[in-house]
Amino acid sequence: MKKDIAVIKKHHKEILRYANLFYDAITDLRFEGRAAFGKNIRAIKRIMNFFRVKFLSHLNKEDVLLSFVSRHIPKFEPMSRMLFAEHKEIRVNLEVLEFLFEGLTRERAQNKRAQMTEKLRDRGTYFTYLLQNHVRVEEEGIYKTLNEDLHPEEKKALVSDMKRTKL
Ligand SMILES: [Fe+2]
Ligand SMILES: [Fe+2]
Repeated sequence: MKKDIAVIKKHHKEILRYANLFYDAITDLRFEGRAAFGKNIRAIKRIMNFFRVKFLSHLNKEDVLLSFVSRHIPKFEPMSRMLFAEHKEIRVNLEVLEFLFEGLTRERAQNKRAQMTEKLRDRGTYFTYLLQNHVRVEEEGIYKTLNEDLHPEEKKALVSDMKRTKL
């Protein structure tokens, strides 16, 4: 169990790092202009790929964990429900970002590109904030004491539940 929490915390560091990279990339895209367009688009593509693969699988694993926690630790039930709902919101926002980004890569008209870039930065800024906040609440609210809050047999059950989740 300790090992699993350590892995999750490592993922959180990586997620926060990518959230910062993402914010920087959409800001550069917005302000660096045409000459750097290709470079910034490639950077965003790489970051999006991380969100689509590693990050979504993190959310899926955590969904299993949160549902377990809300069933076994009453004091965490409201928070687990809220974090679960945030996962949904995060997924929806990621889809919106992908949609905006796809549109932007296909757009050739300069004025439309500018509008879309602006929109991507606005939505992306919100997404970055959402991730940072979400990870902080999880770390401070659930993972901090999870190892002490569960009985040994509960830990075993949770670990095996999470192992069964397909990545
Ligand atoms: Fe989460
Ligand atoms: Fe998380």
